[in-house]
Amino acid sequence: MEALENIRTRRSIRKFTDEPVDHATLEKIVEAASWSPSWKNTQIVRYIAIEDPALKAKIAKDCTTGFTYNAGTMESAPMLIAVTVIKGRCGFEKDGSYTTSRKDTWQMFDAGIASQTFCLAAHEYGLGTVIMGIFDDTLSDVLEIPDDRELVNIICIGHPAEEPEMPKRKSVSDLLSYK
Ligand SMILES: Cc1cc2nc3c(=O)[nH]c(=O)nc-3n(C[C@H](O)[C@H](O)[C@H](O)COP(=O)(O)O)c2cc1C
Repeated sequence: MEALENIRTRRSIRKFTDEPVDHATLEKIVEAASWSPSWKNTQIVRYIAIEDPALKAKIAKDCTTGFTYNAGTMESAPMLIAVTVIKGRCGFEKDGSYTTSRKDTWQMFDAGIASQTFCLAAHEYGLGTVIMGIFDDTLSDVLEIPDDRELVNIICIGHPAEEPEMPKRKSVSDLLSYK
């Protein structure tokens, strides 16, 4: 698929078929996402693929802040990807001090870029995704995320079972100004 077509036609998918996500395809998606830019090429993003049905059901039931919309999407998806970052590198100097006044928030920036690259690559391979930011803090414990890492977001991934309408987008004149 041509790059601009891929960018425009990617949609957040919240209904999936039962077909599992093939590991070889997932690994190609992660390889593509590894080409995302990152702070001083620190490459701090790490992905955890959750496909165990019992664990996935527990997360949907106990870790979605009572937001049943997200619980339903998680139950539908054959796989959840926990996007985590290694703390203390992105936004930092070698001596451990912050490089800028934005402190360690750059690690969220890198996770965001990598997540979008992941989703675009998944779309290229015919898989649907949705990025999720609404989940309980307890999810880090459920996934046994170590102290040196932070869970940033979840990506539900699978074979799409819906073709959502294209949501409205702002016009270029709303988005862009010149000085
Ligand atoms: C940081 C972030 C958090 C999001 N969290 C959720 C979420 O918790 N649940 C959900 O269904 N969609 C979530 N979304 C998906 C957005 O709702 C979606 O991208 C937006 O409505 C535009 O639709 P599109 O992705 O199909 O273009 C999130 C997207 C981003 C970037």
